[in-house]
Amino acid sequence: MTRMKLVVGVSGASGHVYAQRLLMWLADQGRAAGVETHLVFSKYGRLVWDHEIGTDPKSFDFPLYSAGDMTAPFASGSARFDACVIVPCSAGQLGRIAHGVSTDLVGRAADVMLKERKRLVLVLRESPYSLVHLRNMTAVTEAGGIVMPASPSFYSKPATTEAVVDTVTARILDLIGLDNDQMARWKGMP
Ligand SMILES: Cc1cc2nc3c(=O)[nH]c(=O)nc-3n(C[C@H](O)[C@H](O)[C@H](O)COP(=O)(O)O)c2cc1C
Repeated sequence: MTRMKLVVGVSGASGHVYAQRLLMWLADQGRAAGVETHLVFSKYGRLVWDHEIGTDPKSFDFPLYSAGDMTAPFASGSARFDACVIVPCSAGQLGRIAHGVSTDLVGRAADVMLKERKRLVLVLRESPYSLVHLRNMTAVTEAGGIVMPASPSFYSKPATTEAVVDTVTARILDLIGLDNDQMARWKGMP
């Protein structure tokens, strides 16, 4: 039974390891929990994935769309997708989403989430932020989206790079309402 229809958009910012760990979770626990994941890369998203990760994204066995394919189901609100995560989200994609300019399927997926009042999480990766970025974050937040910086935490004492990365993927999954054990939860000081 499908519990959730989810779009994962991957843009051309750095930090594709966050997308990789999220997609690994979705391919395993997510699939078992009834999450139907659809995947789309922007043009530069695919280029940076190949540079930073290098594996074939088809191996996740999710429906995979090209950036220019505006016939994808989630390009229409009538397909009734529940959530969209853009991870990592470039500053350029943030700006286009903030201004309703969907030049590719990643941006259109986000635009549809905002108009349908569904969950949109942008895992922004840029440093430092300009005033333009900050204003675009405000605009997306005012429109109902969530801007989540790709910034890991350390209070759970992650011992490996994967565990550090999963302090971010845990919070992405939390924000879209998926129970997960990706990180040790804070229970107060010992
Ligand atoms: C190796 C590499 C790393 C990049 N890292 C970032 C980044 O961290 N944040 C960002 O906003 N753009 C980054 N860029 C630039 C984006 O790829 C570029 O702005 C691109 O047009 C984004 O396209 P998209 O928003 O359609 O995915 C990077 C580009 C390359 C080649």
